Amino acid sequence: MNAKTPFTPARRAERMNPSIIREILKVTEKPGIVSLAGGLPSADTFPVQAMREACTKVLRDAPREALQYAASEGFAPLREWVAAHLNEHQRMNVTAVQVLIPTGSQQGLDLAAKVLIDNDARVLVETPTYLGALQAFAPYEPTIVALASDHEGPLPDALAAAAGGARFAYLLPNFQNPTGHVYSEARRTAIVVAAQEQTLPLLEDNPYGDLWFDAPPPPSLASRWPEGVLYLGSFSKVLAPGLRLGYIVAPPALYPKLLQAKQAADLHTPIFNQRIVHEVIRNGFLDTHVPAIRARYKLHRDAMQTSLVKHLSGIAQWVTPVGGMFFWLELPAHIDAVALLPKAVEAGMAFVPGAAFYASAPRRNTLRLSFVTSPPQQIEAGIAALARVLKAAA
Ligand SMILES: Cc1ncc(COP(=O)(O)O)c(C=O)c1O
Repeated sequence: MNAKTPFTPARRAERMNPSIIREILKVTEKPGIVSLAGGLPSADTFPVQAMREACTKVLRDAPREALQYAASEGFAPLREWVAAHLNEHQRMNVTAVQVLIPTGSQQGLDLAAKVLIDNDARVLVETPTYLGALQAFAPYEPTIVALASDHEGPLPDALAAAAGGARFAYLLPNFQNPTGHVYSEARRTAIVVAAQEQTLPLLEDNPYGDLWFDAPPPPSLASRWPEGVLYLGSFSKVLAPGLRLGYIVAPPALYPKLLQAKQAADLHTPIFNQRIVHEVIRNGFLDTHVPAIRARYKLHRDAMQTSLVKHLSGIAQWVTPVGGMFFWLELPAHIDAVALLPKAVEAGMAFVPGAAFYASAPRRNTLRLSFVTSPPQQIEAGIAALARVLKAAA
């Protein structure tokens, strides 16, 4: 810290790190670089006109309420909408009283960590896992245990073996960030059975579940074990991330503590945003909007798959994602993606080195590519550039 200030950071602050991705984005957002790094939804999908109309309507019909302090739980009609949506699409059976609206599901991760993690408590994560969750958990000083995982997610036996005394396992069953993996029906069952046998609570994070291309993924873990799963969802990938709206669905016994943590954090999520989003979605808007996003992202996925096959067959390995926003590439063992990045940026493209997503023992020969932010012609140029630097490094 700056020597000129008398402040001393707390021990928890020592655990905080800058997001490597945000640092990379600063370098790569230069004009002329094809960035396949950031996980930004395509801005072309933002429903600008619907938002504009909803803003006007909210300010006309409920200006005093929309600009006033509001309930920490969230806007009641939006909580009702979330419960009904999950009951229909995730085979859940929840009521609005279990729903809390955080400022993005990222805040849900922070609130869950604040309520559930004591220092040195064990928290189980996938290998690799979402970097933002590692960042959210770190200040609460957990011992992070990285579970052995395959192309479908964590191995149920590894989960069972590590469960003793752990506070929860953080799981991403649908189109994971960063790997794009999705748990099969059988894997979901096995994970939930293992967790129930070990009385291991689960934190299920599902921001990408609606972005499937051919068939919806199997129902949520929360639908299989309602009292043992804390569920997070988001409006970021289906509407617009700048609104910062997510949702938490909590078992009733846990809800009051999360609510108290929310009150302490920021009193409530912006009510103006909540009212606007409710106004936009309340009459089935997402029933046509989300399929349009899926169709667009599927085209992008296909473009990246074609380019990868053309330029990187025999050099890199990947599993073609069936939803979400990312390809995860495994490079030859001797190639370090962290060292490769500056060369790639010089060649005109950017990716995120996979090492950032490991809680421990990073596999440095991995990288993440986002296929949704850049248009297909740029994807082709970006992958061609990546292939050039990879061939030079091989
Ligand atoms: C797996 C995962 N969880 C949570 C988030 C946070 O999303 P938001 O706070 O925008 O809802 C992200 C964002 O990219 C994510 O990839």
